[in-house]
Amino acid sequence: MGKLDGRVVIVTGAARGQGEQEARLFAAEGAKVVLGDVLDAQGEAVAKELGADRAQYAHLDVSREEDWAAVVAAALEAFGRVDGLVNNAGILRFNELTATPLAEFEELVRVNQVGSFLGIKHVAPQIEAAGGGTIVNTSSYTGLTGMAYVGAYAATKAAIVGLTRVAALELAAKGIRVNAMCPGAVDTPMANPGLLDPENLGDEARDAMAELYKRVVPLGRVGRPEEIASLALFLTSEDSSYITGQPFVIDGGWMAGVSVL
Ligand SMILES: NC(=O)c1ccc[n+]([C@@H]2O[C@H](COP(=O)([O-])OP(=O)(O)OC[C@H]3O[C@@H](n4cnc5c(N)ncnc54)[C@H](O)[C@@H]3O)[C@@H](O)[C@H]2O)c1
Repeated sequence: MGKLDGRVVIVTGAARGQGEQEARLFAAEGAKVVLGDVLDAQGEAVAKELGADRAQYAHLDVSREEDWAAVVAAALEAFGRVDGLVNNAGILRFNELTATPLAEFEELVRVNQVGSFLGIKHVAPQIEAAGGGTIVNTSSYTGLTGMAYVGAYAATKAAIVGLTRVAALELAAKGIRVNAMCPGAVDTPMANPGLLDPENLGDEARDAMAELYKRVVPLGRVGRPEEIASLALFLTSEDSSYITGQPFVIDGGWMAGVSVL
């Protein structure tokens, strides 16, 4: 028995990183998964590996409303229903606020914030029609606390916490629970672009990153995408049946307080 037997879940940004691990774990727990992303070759490869009876890839730019209509249609055609969504797709840019071009700020809003809104808007009615289910949004610890040089990103991630609370209130009576994950640093190409070119990631850079996380994270290391997938599974499964509208920090203790050790 899997924790998600019989469920059909759309995972956005599922071609790599946390979304990929969420798709893999959900499929292993019995769900049928629709993987959406803009990285078509990578997304298709993951879906193929999982098998057509378990997984389908669909091109999805989360900031485009027409793409959402298409991905919902593809999910219904492949698996007959949709009762779960993980809004995972996101982008990060580093910049000082006063140096941030308007276009860059708006790009982050379109993908992170509008993308999550459109996911809720288009998938919640399907989840309701299926008799209820879950939505998991992906915020960040920067959505709950400040971090210099990620102003646009942090603003979108704070917005996602607000969106999560309102969606939970509006959708509870329809049998839909909505929660948010707030990861700290996680070892994916977003936090560690060297992963995209591991052969050229020198030992020095690798050691410097390990040393940084050892110093600033109470648990002494960066998070693994599989660990975020485990939280997504908890929030998607019946194990969290009495939880809705909440942000969950998963950061190795980084936000717990000021460490003096
Ligand atoms: N890695 C971290 O340290 C960290 C920390 C906190 C929160 N997060 C959040 O976790 C989520 C997953 O990030 P990740 O760490 O796996 O990063 P990642 O860059 O490895 O993966 C992000 C995925 O989203 C996809 N994507 C980007 N724009 C898209 C769009 N417009 N439409 C559809 N897909 C799109 C990318 O192609 C990629 O597959 C993001 O929302 C991110 O903000 C990450």
